Amino acid sequence: MTATPLSFGMVGGGQGAFIGAVHRTAAIMDGQARFVAGALSSTPRKSLASGRELGLPDDRNYPTWQEMLARESARPPHDRIDFVSIVTPNHAHFEPANAFAAAGFNVVLDKPMVMNSAQASQLAATTAKTGVVFAVTYNYTGYPLVKRAAELVRTGAIGPVRKVFVEYHQGWLATRLEAGGQKQADWRTDPKRAGAGAIGDIGSHAENLVATITGLEIEQLCADATTFVPGRAIDDDASVLLRFKGGARGVLTCSQVCVGEENNLSIRVYGENGAIAWRQENPNELWLSPREGSKRLLTRGGPEAGPIAAAATRIPPGHPEGFFEAFANIYRGVAEAIHAKREGRAPAGLATQFPTVHDGARGVRFIERVLDSTARGGAWLAF
Ligand SMILES: NC(=O)c1ccc[n+]([C@@H]2O[C@H](COP(=O)([O-])OP(=O)(O)OC[C@H]3O[C@@H](n4cnc5c(N)ncnc54)[C@H](O)[C@@H]3O)[C@@H](O)[C@H]2O)c1
Repeated sequence: MTATPLSFGMVGGGQGAFIGAVHRTAAIMDGQARFVAGALSSTPRKSLASGRELGLPDDRNYPTWQEMLARESARPPHDRIDFVSIVTPNHAHFEPANAFAAAGFNVVLDKPMVMNSAQASQLAATTAKTGVVFAVTYNYTGYPLVKRAAELVRTGAIGPVRKVFVEYHQGWLATRLEAGGQKQADWRTDPKRAGAGAIGDIGSHAENLVATITGLEIEQLCADATTFVPGRAIDDDASVLLRFKGGARGVLTCSQVCVGEENNLSIRVYGENGAIAWRQENPNELWLSPREGSKRLLTRGGPEAGPIAAAATRIPPGHPEGFFEAFANIYRGVAEAIHAKREGRAPAGLATQFPTVHDGARGVRFIERVLDSTARGGAWLAF
């Protein structure tokens, strides 16, 4: 990794926001970037107040993302932000992401990437045209033991995959939290701003985790998304059956009304010769069960972690790493990809592992197909 830190700006992530602060922490964790500019909130007044609170200089603390784009573009190329992180609610992803990418800025965008496949295609076309680095923060891909799980499955350690179970269960929306105006619940349960409910917010993480670990492609799916909480206008629970190319089968469930669950994202993959199991709430452990041997626990940083996971690990085993570090692995990859592009060399390591616009587009399609299947009474649909 090169020593020159990159400069980045942020859209969203102002006062009272959730994930923006995680991005800011992760982006600078390895000294690869500095936070220098922002249009941090949906109203100019709050944007400016948020930026001041975070120490942004007045001349790069912008009232809107449109002004940030115009004024950053007007700076000499070496003095512009090197990338922008966009951490707004879902309905406010496409416009800034497409505009910054079209103007040649590298982009980190949170999930789900955009609201529909038409926007996803447009974004893919824009990034292809300008050649910018574009990452979608499916952050669970950044965990060292997810990388190890992917390595094990893809190199045949458990044999051909037969069955995948993946679930992402939360309980925080078990009541009509949005009625009290809770910020994160408010837009997540509004179809106009969220697009989809549980299937978009967390089901898409589960889809991405399956693809990341197994490399399997969904061929068909059959879905039952539903709304449990009275008065809610969006799904808060979904069950999906998956048929993968090559014959493997999967079951994906997501829910935001499972009382007692926090962020229970977990995956089990069963092959002909073994199985693996990983759980986000205990991310420093991965179970490997060979068919002919005893099951064993692989630990992050432990003797069987392997070099790919080791390259994504910062501290010795036993000291927990987690959410922030996994996010930071995406940012480290993005920084390396930007430096590689500028230096005209092929990206390597983490720079080849972060989710791209194509992963984002597949995630959007997954959400659409789940809702389509549900609308057709749970019909099997081609993916
Ligand atoms: N990868 C993950 O694990 C993860 C976790 C949480 C949220 N997310 C995603 O991140 C995004 C934000 O979620 P959140 O929970 O932080 O939401 P939030 O409501 O807490 O924060 C959103 C922020 O965006 C700002 N904003 C809205 N419109 C804006 C605009 N036009 N210009 C500038 N700022 C604007 C709001 O003022 C607020 O500061 C969502 O797309 C969500 O799906 C991802």
